[in-house]
Amino acid sequence: MKNITVIGVGYVGLVTGTCFADMGNRVVCLDVNEERIAHLKQNIMPIYEPGLEEMVRRNVSASRLSFTTSYEEALNNPEAPAELVFVAVGTPEGVDGEADLRYVRAVAESVAEVVDHPIIIVNKSTVPVGTGDWVADVVMHRQANAMSFSVVSNPEFLREGSAISDFLNPDRIVLGSLDRSAAEAVAQLYFPLRAPIMITDLRTAEMIKYASNAFLATKISFINEIANICEALGADVKEVAVGMGYDKRIGRAFLDAGLGYGGSCFPKDVSALTHMANVQGKHPQMLQAVMQINDDQRRSVVSKARELAGGLIGKTVGILGLAFKPNTDDIRESPGIDLVHMFQEAGAVVKAYDPVAMLNAARVLKDVKLCEDSYDLAQGCDVVVLATEWNEFKNLDLDRVRREMRLPIFIDGRNLYDPALMYGAGFVYRGLGRGYGQVTANGPTNNHSARNGASQPVVNWNGRNAAVARK
Ligand SMILES: NC(=O)c1ccc[n+]([C@@H]2O[C@H](COP(=O)([O-])OP(=O)(O)OC[C@H]3O[C@@H](n4cnc5c(N)ncnc54)[C@H](O)[C@@H]3O)[C@@H](O)[C@H]2O)c1
Repeated sequence: MKNITVIGVGYVGLVTGTCFADMGNRVVCLDVNEERIAHLKQNIMPIYEPGLEEMVRRNVSASRLSFTTSYEEALNNPEAPAELVFVAVGTPEGVDGEADLRYVRAVAESVAEVVDHPIIIVNKSTVPVGTGDWVADVVMHRQANAMSFSVVSNPEFLREGSAISDFLNPDRIVLGSLDRSAAEAVAQLYFPLRAPIMITDLRTAEMIKYASNAFLATKISFINEIANICEALGADVKEVAVGMGYDKRIGRAFLDAGLGYGGSCFPKDVSALTHMANVQGKHPQMLQAVMQINDDQRRSVVSKARELAGGLIGKTVGILGLAFKPNTDDIRESPGIDLVHMFQEAGAVVKAYDPVAMLNAARVLKDVKLCEDSYDLAQGCDVVVLATEWNEFKNLDLDRVRREMRLPIFIDGRNLYDPALMYGAGFVYRGLGRGYGQVTANGPTNNHSARNGASQPVVNWNGRNAAVARK
């Protein structure tokens, strides 16, 4: 059993602290956000993560997990002085794409000023290469009493929505330090997980995280580029991805064409890596292209909607899904939120619905009607865009959705639906890269839908209640 302090109770810190407690350690989680800590003391979760609430409650009851806003209490409890201090504060995108390290600095300064015994500082936040050395400098210069300490980089690879399972079943644990014994002490903590543990130097560990995220983002942009080519040539990117994925050298993961990556990690991490490269005089052309393709995916959906609806000014557009992915309430860099803003800028009236992220969305969206459910959203819409692949969007009552809509235009930003099914239900349907032609007054320009036994409905755009006729 180790005495652990985790600093920052966000998506990473709260999961990390709770899982370490569940593994039998004594964990104190600290945050400067007083409301978050007050809520956690009442077992109210600051984030939505499946399974987390029960796990927090169980470990609090077993006295292995507690919460505080006090650095003194978190670090210097005489009965259980912190041995390992995990840093899991945010590192958002700053100026010019650079990672903003103000929270990491604040933590390093607070720890240095307060701690009264030797510790190992373990950095879980995603930080630019060289930050570990910089943190060591900050602590050294800020220490009230000269205490020995070591810095270890331990990048986190969990995914929101499956964070607990990812934390407890990692593909690998990466530890980087100039102090091998400190890295080995952290490794011991992870032994029960029976995962491969890699010990390297600080900068290499920091780089592994950026390179991993940049690679995954690249896979997403790659398949989105292929999707655009598929669309032009009449191929179906979903089947192309399956066909590619059987190849073990390629793999099936992260080959889902759609609205592109979002969330609190990929966008800022690709930007930060690009910035690091630029500062060194390198030319990260591939990373630039990855970001550009990602931005274009959102824009292409707005263009599709404009074309199908015959303009967007005064049209009503419904966005299904505001979380950046399913099973989280995180809306940071979410495609759904971006689309709300883009459709508003294009002159549309926008409605939105998400099963879990409505509260977070309400804080950032203006002049949007937030709806009760998918059918409330569909009511009066000219266009519905499916932006997040929540389970509850996978089996919508399609007849009901179409009946509620003014025009039956459904743009599937996640390629969840079978085009033939959607045509059959009377929608003017578009996925991304699904290979069928543009709808004209005479119907689709290729025979893809006919091949699937259902023809694309033809829409007469004259008048509010456009007639939908089968071809
Ligand atoms: N979210 C993910 O899926 C994920 C996955 C892997 C890595 N990461 C990385 O982990 C880090 C944390 O990400 P997150 O999504 O958990 O962030 P978050 O924004 O959800 O949480 C950060 C927390 O840190 C707290 N904080 C800020 N300054 C503080 C201070 N001085 N002292 C104590 N607490 C402070 C904030 O109040 C907040 O509660 C980031 O670097 C991120 O890139 C995130």
